[in-house]
Amino acid sequence: MTAPGFTPATPADIEGLVELERRCFADPWGRESVAGELAAGGGSSVVLRDPEAGGRPIAYLFYRLVDTEAELFRVAVAPELRRRGIGAALIAEFLRQARARGVQAAVLEVGAANAAALALYRAAGFTPVGARRGYYAGGREDAVILKLELTARSADRSNPRCPNPDLVEQEDP
Ligand SMILES: CC(C)(COP(=O)(O)OP(=O)(O)OC[C@H]1O[C@@H](n2cnc3c(N)ncnc32)[C@H](O)[C@@H]1OP(=O)(O)O)[C@@H](O)C(=O)NCCC(=O)NCCS
Repeated sequence: MTAPGFTPATPADIEGLVELERRCFADPWGRESVAGELAAGGGSSVVLRDPEAGGRPIAYLFYRLVDTEAELFRVAVAPELRRRGIGAALIAEFLRQARARGVQAAVLEVGAANAAALALYRAAGFTPVGARRGYYAGGREDAVILKLELTARSADRSNPRCPNPDLVEQEDP
């Protein structure tokens, strides 16, 4: 079950997700990649929407279950909504779903220069277990492999603020 405020992606979200990809990544996924992820075996998604914009996605996460591990492929928050706890809430929901499915560990790869994502994952309890030299940016950026064992002891280290539609309201200047 998906927590309140979050829903899985549907084919109707593809255009909105492609637009967010373009706004969030230097190497954005195109329509084919996003549609392929939605259709992938073992694939799941967590989406937060703007209710005032017809449910347009404003943040999302893609993961796949492979044996006893959950592999996180993509997480992004609309640029104007960052540093409000949405990324942490997406990760917490991902970990909640993974635990509910009996997964033993969560793994991901992140660019060694992606300070925001590294800080987000470390705050959620992920730790480095390896690296891939020259994996990103045409060989110029290493990938760091991070892992979180989903034991009872590691549960709920992240403490998201509130993942609800109020998050789309702009703060007063
Ligand atoms: C990475 C990303 C998803 C974080 O989303 P977010 O909603 O801004 O993250 P949160 O507000 O939940 O931040 C949670 C914690 O992560 C860390 N963090 C997040 N962004 C950070 C930044 N720019 N610099 C330093 N730490 C950061 C902080 O510890 C933060 O807690 P704090 O705000 O209490 O200090 C967002 O920056 C993003 O979409 N980036 C582009 C896409 C990307 O690189 N995705 C990851 C690779 S797949």
